[in-house]
Formats: sequence, C-alpha cells, structure tokens
Amino acid sequence: MKKKIAILGSTGSIGRNALKVIDALGGKYEVAALTAHNNIELLAEQVKKYRPRIAVVTNPAKVDEFKRILDSGFRGNDTTDTLPCRQRLNEVETYTDLTAAACDAEIDIVIAAVVGAAGLEAILNAAKAGKVLAIANKEPLVIAGSLLTKVVKESGAKILPVDSEHSAVFQALQAGDIKEVSRIILTASGGPFRGATKEQIQNATIEQALAHPTWNMGKKITVDSATMMNKALEVIEAKWLFNVPAEKIDILVHPESIIHSMVEFVDGSVIAQMSAPDMCLPIQYALTFPHRVKGITKHLRLEEIGRLTFEQPDMEVFRALKIGYEVAKVDGTAAAVFNAANEAAVKEFLEGKIKFVNIVELIERCLDKHNFKQDASLEELLSADNWARNEVTKWLNK
Ligand SMILES: NC(=O)c1ccc[n+]([C@@H]2O[C@H](COP(=O)([O-])OP(=O)(O)OC[C@H]3O[C@@H](n4cnc5c(N)ncnc54)[C@H](OP(=O)(O)O)[C@@H]3O)[C@@H](O)[C@H]2O)c1
Repeated sequence: MKKKIAILGSTGSIGRNALKVIDALGGKYEVAALTAHNNIELLAEQVKKYRPRIAVVTNPAKVDEFKRILDSGFRGNDTTDTLPCRQRLNEVETYTDLTAAACDAEIDIVIAAVVGAAGLEAILNAAKAGKVLAIANKEPLVIAGSLLTKVVKESGAKILPVDSEHSAVFQALQAGDIKEVSRIILTASGGPFRGATKEQIQNATIEQALAHPTWNMGKKITVDSATMMNKALEVIEAKWLFNVPAEKIDILVHPESIIHSMVEFVDGSVIAQMSAPDMCLPIQYALTFPHRVKGITKHLRLEEIGRLTFEQPDMEVFRALKIGYEVAKVDGTAAAVFNAANEAAVKEFLEGKIKFVNIVELIERCLDKHNFKQDASLEELLSADNWARNEVTKWLNK
C-alpha cells in the first residue's frame, strides 16, 4: 500500500524539498494533499504534477484566483495534456483550512512545513487524529510543546523530527536510551554574522542577514539564523521532542554544518550524525524511518572537507540565545510570547521597517512586559501570541 502524504506548506523550501524526496523514493508514497498561502501559481503547478485530491489555499484572497487557474485547465510548462489535466484538476477539492489536509481520513503522514505559528492548529488536530507527523515547522512545538506532547501520548500519534538538528539527535538516540543521555549538543552554523561584534551587526542589512553561509532556506528562518534566534527556538523544540530539560541541552557553533547535532551518553560516548547540509536527508529519514534507503543527498567525502571546527556561541552578541535558555527553563506562556514577538519583528525587519538590532530588543521588551502564566491552555497561549504581536505593532506606531 502506498503511504498517503499531506504536505502543509508545499510551496516553501522544506515543502519543495519534500516533493523532491518523494519523487526520488519512487512509487511508495502518494501526494494526497498540498497547501500554499500566497504562491498559488506554484501550488497549481504542483497540483498538476502530483494530482492530489486536496489542495489548500490558506490566504482567502487567493482562493478564487487559484480555482480559476485550475478551471482554465492550467497547463504549466506542459502544453500536451490539456484535456486530461482539465478533467482531473476540476476534481481537486479546494479548502482554506490546513486541517482539511492534515486530518483527512486517507492521510497517513503529515509533513508540517508551514512557517511560524500558522501551522499550530493543524498540527494539534493532526496529532489528535493520531497521524504520523514529520515536523519541520518548529514554532508550534515552541509555543505549545506541552499540549502537543500530551495530545500525542493520548492519541497514539507519532512525531518524527525533520529539523536537521533534531533529526540528528533522534538518529543518535538510536544508539542508547533517553535515560542514559547526559547531554544533547545542538550544533549551529553561526549564521552570516559569526564572529561579529555587537556594533558590527546592529545595522545589518536585509541582504546581509539573508546571506546564510551553508543553508538555503526560507527568509524567516534565515533571519532567525542571523540573530541565532533559530537556535534558541531549537533548544525549546528539543526540550519537548526529547523530554530533556534545557540544562542538559548545549549549543556548539560548528561552521562547516557537517555534524548536525550530537548526543553524549552517561558513559562519555558522543554519537554524532554527519551528512552534507541538505534538508532532503532528514525529510527522507522521517518518511522511511525506521529504515534507511538510498537517497538524493550527496555523500560526504571527509577527506575533501579536511577539518571540522567548533566554537562556543557568543551569548552576549547573540542575546536571543541567552533569553531562549531562560524561556526554555519555564513552561507556560513565555515561549508563545518569545516566538510571536520574534515572528512579528522579523516580518517588520524584512519589510525594512526596523533595524536588525531591534528584533531582539522587541522580544525582550515583550517578555519584560508580559504577565506570565504557568500551565496555560491553548486559548491562553494563543492570546499571549496575539498580545505579543500587538505589542510589536504598538511599539512601531510610537
Ligand atoms: N528551510 C529549511 O531548510 C528549514 C530547516 C529546518 C526547519 N525549517 C522550518 O520549517 C518551516 C518552514 O520553513 P521554510 O524555510 O520552508 O519556509 P518558507 O520557504 O518560507 O515556506 C513556508 C511555507 O508556509 C506557507 N505559509 C506561509 N505563511 C502561511 C500562513 N499564514 N498559513 C499557512 N501557510 C503559510 C508558505 O506558502 P506560500 O509559499 O504560498 O507563501 C510556504 O508554503 C519553518 O518553521 C522553519 O523553521 C526549515
């Protein structure tokens, strides 16, 4: 039986890589649902190629245009099969809610590749429905890790990490038991501003922040890598995924991005997962787990790389890391505020409305002002998220 897959965020960097992986794995997987927010042209191309039963356009303003593209027998680059394409494309069910894709009864695996908190509700619903969840979309885990892991336990759903660091930890954990772990070591490339001083980066431009040295990713996560907020989010993500306290999670800067993370066991053994920096590998591992198959990721030639280097992160220059550890030590609404303030601030930075240095300043400002609540419900988490976004807007309007 083919496994039926929903890709939430199929037009993004992870979503497009997931489709490449599925192509390479041959006929064992069927793409049954695809989703986009704005990029309906690419979604239509994907629908034409993969013929899923379900398409989701989450931006309501784009739905009619998407349907028009399908109704007109969208040809893409291929002008040879207009008629069968038109007949089939008319049968695609179009929705505006990610949950329609994530929870459809036919779906076996949900690849969560939407960016930001927007993926939260669908991930929670898919978990309630007992799906296998291959999660790249880290923000929902950061905001609601406590709720999500509880739902997963109750429903029998399964989470398989796609974030390269967490996939590496997951792979390294196959060598021992979680109770035998003394430390998780998340590696970080250091981003485009590794080694810079506070003064050098405070007025960093959008182009400089988007010039990641080793990974080619969506804009939001690339800016997060520049502030090292991405690593802070990953500490919280690891805490929930592996049920390990933040005190046992270290960060090590490793500019070559060859070791994707490590697990140190109580006997002193350190198990590392290495590969070329290519997201297709963690995506594939999540799909084929517990098996490994030949894939499209280039194999490593360590003799060509020569040296692997490591440094301590600079928590003074990259303050997001320091704040992230404080947030990771508490549960409740703090992580929702931490994440939402960052999402809102990164959006403003990418629109040229604030300086690079303002991103972390705004996060700190929101956390300082926020009335923290322990043991928060989903409604309280969403309300904290909303509050932080409004705070960023208020600050901008001042
Ligand atoms: N890229 C990587 O290598 C990488 C590595 C590890 C983890 N991750 C994580 O994976 C997630 C996706 O990252 P990415 O780099 O692939 O992002 P991306 O390239 O920006 O793609 C984001 C996807 O989400 C969709 N989307 C945007 N806003 C949405 C909304 N409000 N509601 C529903 N869908 C929305 C986009 O649709 P449109 O294209 O139509 O706008 C697109 O399909 C992030 O959480 C990131 O932290 C990414």
